[in-house]
Amino acid sequence: MRITVIGSGYVGLVTGACLSDLGFKVVCLDKDETKIRALQEGDVPIYEPGLKELLAKNRADGRIRFTTDSNEAIEHGDVLFIAVGTPATEDGSADLSHVLSVASMIGRQLKGFKLIVNKSTVPVGTADRVRAAIEHELSHRGMPTHVFDVISNPEFLKEGAAIDDFMRPDRIVVGIDEGIHQAKSQRMMGDLYASFNRHHSRTVWMDVRSAELTKYAANAMLAARISFMNEMANLSDALGADIDHIRRGIGADSRIGHSFLYAGCGYGGSCFPKDTQALVSTAQAHGQSMSVVQATEQVNQRQKLLLVDRLVKAMGPDLSGRRIAIWGLAFKPNTDDMREAPSRVVIEHLLLRGARVTAYDPIAGHEAMKALRQDLAGREHLLAQFALTDSDMQALEGADALMVLTEWKNFHNPDFDGMKSVMRKPFILDGRNLYNPEALSELGMAYQGIGRRNHLVPLLSFDSVIELADEAKLPALAHGMAHA
Ligand SMILES: NC(=O)c1ccc[n+]([C@@H]2O[C@H](COP(=O)([O-])OP(=O)(O)OC[C@H]3O[C@@H](n4cnc5c(N)ncnc54)[C@H](O)[C@@H]3O)[C@@H](O)[C@H]2O)c1
Repeated sequence: MRITVIGSGYVGLVTGACLSDLGFKVVCLDKDETKIRALQEGDVPIYEPGLKELLAKNRADGRIRFTTDSNEAIEHGDVLFIAVGTPATEDGSADLSHVLSVASMIGRQLKGFKLIVNKSTVPVGTADRVRAAIEHELSHRGMPTHVFDVISNPEFLKEGAAIDDFMRPDRIVVGIDEGIHQAKSQRMMGDLYASFNRHHSRTVWMDVRSAELTKYAANAMLAARISFMNEMANLSDALGADIDHIRRGIGADSRIGHSFLYAGCGYGGSCFPKDTQALVSTAQAHGQSMSVVQATEQVNQRQKLLLVDRLVKAMGPDLSGRRIAIWGLAFKPNTDDMREAPSRVVIEHLLLRGARVTAYDPIAGHEAMKALRQDLAGREHLLAQFALTDSDMQALEGADALMVLTEWKNFHNPDFDGMKSVMRKPFILDGRNLYNPEALSELGMAYQGIGRRNHLVPLLSFDSVIELADEAKLPALAHGMAHA
C-alpha cells in the first residue's frame, strides 16, 4: 500500500515520516514550493523533536519524497491523506477552502480507486462536502463517480511529542460510513495501522460524522480542563489557597486523573483556540448552545493577560522606561509554533504600555519575529522596543521584571543568584508555575505564580515588592521610579 500525504505541515510531515518509518512508500505534497524545496534538500521547515532525523533516515532509504506536483502525488498513493490547515475564519467557523480545493484537485486527477482519508480537523459534514467536490469533478470528466471513498481519521498528536504520539497512540479513531467501499476501506485502514494494534486493538471504529466530532470533543474537553484550573487558580489567589495542592488533591480521584490539570497563563497553539470556536460555530448553526465551550475560550482570553494585569498592579499602567524580560515565546515547549501563543498578546500589551521587552526562546525566536511583525504591522515604533536575545541571562540584563511564559526544560532550574545580579529588580511573574514560591522568597526574590498563595507577596505597590525582594537595590529603584 502506497501513501500520499497532502499538506506537509506539522501533521502531514509527522504522518509521512512515521508511515515511511513503518515501511510504507510515502509521497508528501505541498503547494508551498519553498517548503518542498527545503524538504528535498534535507531541511525541515518546522521544529519537532526527532522529525528531522526520521525524515533524513527514510529519505536516504528511499521511502519518502516530497513534491509540489499534484499529478505525481495523486498517482502515487493508494491512500491519500488530507492534512492541510483549517484555520478559523472571522466568525470563528473553520475555513475549509484548503480542504475543498484539495478535494477538487483529487477529483480532477483521479484515475482508479483511491481511499481518501481526512486527517485535518474539520466540522461534521465535511467528508460529505469533500465527496461532493470530487464527484463534481469526476462527472465533469465523464468518469464514474464511485471510484473512491472518503473517510475520517482525525489526528490527536501533540506538537512537541508528535512522533511519539503517532508511533504510540492512545487510540486511533477511524470513521467509515456504510457503502460499497466500506469493507475495503476498513481493511486498508486495518492494514495501515496494523503495527499499532498488534498487542491489543487501539483502533476505535465509528461512522464518519462521529469521528469528525470526536476530535472537537477531545480538544474542547482538554481546553475546558485548562480554563477550569485557571479559574480555580485565580480563586486560590484571592482566597490564599495553593492551586498546586488542589491539583494534586483532585488529580488523585481516578475519575479526574492527574493529566492536564496545570494552571498557567492561558493556552494557545493551532488547535484549542480555533477548534473551540469552530465547535461553538457548528453548534450555533444547528441551533444548539455550547455554553461550557464558549466560557472556556472567554476564560482563556482573560488568562492570557493575567500577568500584564499583575505587572500593571505592581508598577502602574504606564510602563514607559520599564524593561520587561520574557522567557519562552512558543505556545508550549519543544515546538517553534507561535500560532495563538499567549506571548504574542502579552508582548503587544507590554509594548502598548510603553515597556521595552527583551525575550529569549531556545527555538521559536525566528517564528516569533515573524508573528510579531504580522501582529504589529504598521506599528513598527512598537516593534522597535522589542528585542530577541541569544540567551536567557542576556534577556534579564537590566530588567525590572521577568515573565515566564513557556515551560522549556532549561528554565526549570535557573541560576537565581545570577538572575538577581543582572536584573534591575528581581521580580518574577511565573506564568507556568515552575518555581517554588517559598524558595524564591528565601532568596529575596519577589515572585508571583498562578494560584500559588500570592497573598504572601503583597502587591500593594511595586515599591513594596522591591523592599521585600532586596533592600540593597533600593537606590536603583529610586532611579528607576524617577523615569517611571
Ligand atoms: N498542529 C497540530 O498539533 C495538529 C494536531 C491535530 C490536528 N491538527 C489539524 O491538522 C490540520 C493541519 O494542521 P497543521 O498544524 O499540520 O497545519 P500547517 O499549517 O502546519 O500545514 C498545512 C500545510 O498544508 C499546505 N497546503 C494548504 N493547501 C494546500 C493544497 N491545496 N495543496 C497542498 N498543500 C496545501 C500548506 O502549505 C501547509 O504546509 C489542521 O486541520 C489542524 O487543525 C493539527
